Amino acid sequence: MDAQLAQLRPTAPHTGSFADCLMAGLRKNPKEIACKYFYDAAGSKLFDEICELPEYYQTRTETMLLTRHAGEIAALIGDGAEIVEFGAGSLRKVRLLLDAAKAGAYTPLDISGAYLAGVVRQLAADYPHLTLRPLVGDFTLPLDIPALPGHSRRAGFFPGSTIGNFKPDAAMALLRRMRGVLNGGGLLVGVDLVKDPARLHAAYNDAAGVTALFNKNLLVRANRELGADFDVDDFAHYAPYNPNAHRIEMYLVSRKRQRVTIAGEHFDFAHGEAVHSEDSHKYTIESFREMAVRAGFRPRTVWTDAERLFSLHWLES
Ligand code: AVI
Repeated sequence: MDAQLAQLRPTAPHTGSFADCLMAGLRKNPKEIACKYFYDAAGSKLFDEICELPEYYQTRTETMLLTRHAGEIAALIGDGAEIVEFGAGSLRKVRLLLDAAKAGAYTPLDISGAYLAGVVRQLAADYPHLTLRPLVGDFTLPLDIPALPGHSRRAGFFPGSTIGNFKPDAAMALLRRMRGVLNGGGLLVGVDLVKDPARLHAAYNDAAGVTALFNKNLLVRANRELGADFDVDDFAHYAPYNPNAHRIEMYLVSRKRQRVTIAGEHFDFAHGEAVHSEDSHKYTIESFREMAVRAGFRPRTVWTDAERLFSLHWLES
């Protein structure tokens, strides 16, 4: 089956293109770039590599939890449901769910059309009876996902602790919006946990330098897509853990005083000036459940590993 890629239109006004967002962010003081722009085709591939790194415990721990508790999760989702995945990240994870839950339909929603097309092509071959509805869209914007004829039961899937990339207020608002499109169904969400700062630091400062390439891909992308003239080697990857805010903060730091031109506009960087590119918030099981309650969910089962590195939450609408 060759699924058509549908462009999902946000129900609120568009917040701007990569060019608009990048230039607006670089005009600010301090400068910033929104982390959703990491995920072009090259960035999505780099992120897949991050997920395989020895330091990045998140992916393998969440996969282990999904594998170990697949039967219990499937019973909560129910046979024949439509699984709506917010951000089509890892095929491996969703396959675990599709197999266990005997899902009737899969609706992956992702910002990268090219990536989504590849993902869906691979799934279609292995799940000939599954209704596939890939949607190109930005799940950070208010969305309306139309009902799929014949699939009344819906369950949301939001793995990988992507929720951590939103500031707590925005994360709560996002959960609330997800609840709004689930039509009474539950949400399975993966959440990275507060832990030893050294462990967190290592996960975002890997020895092979893949996270640095992922961070710098923002500049590579600006050069390729917008004709910007960033010298990528003149920026350093910097990712400290802020223990009071419970988050990794990621920056691109200018190694020297320099000027960059994008679409005819000049942007000056001081030596040592940092462009904020990502936050990755960590929660305790309790703090996440409290946030879910504020978003209107009823938190039910939570699964975690023996070291309490990562958690998987089943939230009922
Ligand atoms: C996608 N997201 C949950 C990742 C994280 O851990 O915050 C993105 C990432 N950034 C650097 N490494 C991975």
